[in-house]
Amino acid sequence: MSHTIVIFGASGDLTSRKLIPALYSLSAKGRLPQNTRIVGVSRSDYSDDAWRTELEQTTRKFLGKEFNESSWRDFAARVYYHAGDIQQSADFTSLATRLNELEGGERCTRLYYLSTSPRLYHTAVEALGASGLADESNGERRIVVEKPFGTDLATAESLNHTLHGVFSERQVYRIDHYLGKETVQNLLVLRFANSIFEPLWNRNYIDHVQITVAEEVVIGSRAGYYESSGILRDMFQNHLLQLMMITAMEAPARFTADLVRDEKVKVLQAVRPMTGAAFAQDTVRGQYEGYLKEPDVAPKSQTETFASLKLNVDNWRWQGVPFYLRSGKAMSCRTTQIVIQFRQPPHMLFDGGARRSPDANRLVIQVQPAEGIQLHFHTKVPDAGMKLRLTDLDFNFQEEFNSALPDSYQRLLLDALNGDASLFARSDEVELAWSIIDPIIAAWQSPAAPRLEVYPTGMWGPDCSNEWMQAQGRQWFDVCPVLHGAEHH
Ligand code: BG6
Repeated sequence: MSHTIVIFGASGDLTSRKLIPALYSLSAKGRLPQNTRIVGVSRSDYSDDAWRTELEQTTRKFLGKEFNESSWRDFAARVYYHAGDIQQSADFTSLATRLNELEGGERCTRLYYLSTSPRLYHTAVEALGASGLADESNGERRIVVEKPFGTDLATAESLNHTLHGVFSERQVYRIDHYLGKETVQNLLVLRFANSIFEPLWNRNYIDHVQITVAEEVVIGSRAGYYESSGILRDMFQNHLLQLMMITAMEAPARFTADLVRDEKVKVLQAVRPMTGAAFAQDTVRGQYEGYLKEPDVAPKSQTETFASLKLNVDNWRWQGVPFYLRSGKAMSCRTTQIVIQFRQPPHMLFDGGARRSPDANRLVIQVQPAEGIQLHFHTKVPDAGMKLRLTDLDFNFQEEFNSALPDSYQRLLLDALNGDASLFARSDEVELAWSIIDPIIAAWQSPAAPRLEVYPTGMWGPDCSNEWMQAQGRQWFDVCPVLHGAEHH
């Protein structure tokens, strides 16, 4: 039994920056299933060898020291190129012939990877159906769809509709690369493979949860995409809500794709819909200073590059525990972290009974670029009466396992090849996520929208985001993390 990965959008940036380096690394580690071949498809006119040569250069550049000549030669021998235009049905017929030749007519699992411009997704899916390429009589056929999955609920539903016209849901793998991050998967392990955290993981012990995805980068040359997206579509609908689902979900009965996703979906179903005054009270939006001067940005653009949201999850576990989600470009540093802020002890004996909420216990899940977990707890300062200080216990992946964590695409590609969709978004999940984000986007375009606050670059977003937290008796955990024992850049 062999496998073929067909990459549509082969000459694109994602292919050279992420997909090929990930597939090469898997091959070098001996993890790609035997007899896996990769076929790139795009309009450019390459021979197999010309494409291999180009990929060798880009992969070498992206992987640096990890690149190895002889492993590359083994890998490159599995790589092919087929020139084709998604808008020409004849090109799908010739692709079908080429794939059959390469596979020698044998049974083969195929993965069609849509790494093209999203406006071509419908056409590509329909053409796969019409040309018989989705037919499973000679092996399984799966389709991997890159983000963005629609630009709102209506377009996501329409894309699901097109996909389901050709593929069944079990064949569809919607990528959210945050789910491929080891530290995100480790959150499932932390919660469900240990017995000491889960009893505390609820409204009885947790005051609130903060999820921050801060980036230092600015928009640069991406305005063409970003101006019509903004941070709610670009980061919240997918990555931040995924982190929230993993943090808030119940334990599934078994670790299978549908049972895991059933539990994640229940979290989104429990998110209280925002209405009326909530849009102004529970959201903050910002734009970094200088955004308007970026190339191709409209002179009066109202596109947000920062947002914080307060979401309430109406279920037994989380009633009364707000989830604060925050993300921004041009922030102080690159860091993704999930902070579980515990409550104060019910009665404080020390420090004259002082009880300051940010001083209570905290579990910080460092997703990236620091990768680990910190537990903050009170300690007696020695030789100082009963003075207390919040200290921390750190766990650091690199120190513990002595190796860098693999890029998320490795895990996701391997899972898709092996037919495991646990770490991919299901159709209902994507639609529910849009149904949470769409009303906020609409409210932000209405006269009642909260002001778009301009914030200086290199900070933690607009001041009003901090004031907003303080007004609720809480405080953002604004720390660029360095886990003890590790160097992070
Ligand atoms: C992408 C967004 O999905 O995620 C980008 O489109 C963002 O705007 C990126 O920079 C962040 O990914 P990571 O893995 O670097 O945190």
